[in-house]
Amino acid sequence: MKYRDEFRYSTDELSWTFHQAAKEELVAFAEATRFHRDGTTDLWHLTVDNIQARARRFWGIEDEDNRYALPDYLTDCSAPWARALVGMYGEKSTYPAALSPDQGAFLKNLVLNINPCTVVEIGCYTGGSTVWIASGLEQLGGEGTIHSVDLFNEIFPFPPFHYEYLPDSLAAARELVASAQLAERVQFYKMDSKRMGMQVGKRLRAPIDLLFIDGDHSIQGCLADFLLFYPHVATGGYVVMHDIYPKYSGHEGPRYVINHCVRNSLSTEILEVKTYPENRGMAVIRKRGADPKLHLAGALLRTAITGWPVVKRLPIGGTVARSVLKRAIGVGRSQ
Ligand SMILES: C[S@@+](CC[C@H](N)C(=O)[O-])C[C@H]1O[C@@H](n2cnc3c(N)ncnc32)[C@H](O)[C@@H]1O
Repeated sequence: MKYRDEFRYSTDELSWTFHQAAKEELVAFAEATRFHRDGTTDLWHLTVDNIQARARRFWGIEDEDNRYALPDYLTDCSAPWARALVGMYGEKSTYPAALSPDQGAFLKNLVLNINPCTVVEIGCYTGGSTVWIASGLEQLGGEGTIHSVDLFNEIFPFPPFHYEYLPDSLAAARELVASAQLAERVQFYKMDSKRMGMQVGKRLRAPIDLLFIDGDHSIQGCLADFLLFYPHVATGGYVVMHDIYPKYSGHEGPRYVINHCVRNSLSTEILEVKTYPENRGMAVIRKRGADPKLHLAGALLRTAITGWPVVKRLPIGGTVARSVLKRAIGVGRSQ
């Protein structure tokens, strides 16, 4: 329920909106900052103006100038895509959530080398990686398009991932892509990537040449993204995963997928790449052919998602479905 200058949330909605935050921490945040609580409806009242100030106080966010250092090849370039990115990196909200310039350049160079037609990006945020990829497609001059999926929720300050309040991340992404003069190359989808994963066959005509996964970094979320989209990646196509080193990125999901789905598959090649300035790491995975085990796991997950409302009411059925899925994707093997 939204009012002109005030947002009302239930604790669950608030937790989802902060989406990475532990619920207890969020409740503590709400309590500590004394948002007005409506006892009868259990709603929290937040005003746009005070979210930032209260979050700064609660998390002790210093007014430091945390931004990526920009390399000369970006600042010296007068092309619209480069000017748009320089502007974007000037926004505090893009550090450290967006790809660093050097990681973005790596992705763009990959695009220039593999010449993809259909690119899918899971996790667009405010469009930084989208512009890096789309600028490569534009330079190639072919038909290449990037399909960019994100929840595009409003973003609350939640260190260490976000330091600023961002009311409309889709508008920010659209604006960035337009100022980069790349709107023709980009199609946005405001939805959960799992929903998109269930509809790839219907929504995209061609198989995916490059899949960039940088969305839900939890084990469950990353696994679902990989298993639902991988069957649609072309033979010879590529999957790039970001944040593969949990020690530096703070995320477990990408590493889990690499260890449990990629490393033990005979149909994939993988190159792990160190990244700068923080070694959150990227993996470049090449699909050499269909892997029946991964495709079966994807099909099982699809069935589980479709049948979940029924399965969850059957404790026995739920347990069996889960254990079949675990077996299919090799969860629990020693690596
Ligand atoms: C680290 S940011 C992506 C950064 C972006 N690639 C860049 O370089 O600017 C992660 C994004 O994933 C999105 N996300 C998280 N869970 C998602 C889900 N289940 N479906 C779609 N997007 C999701 C978040 O909304 C957030 O914008």
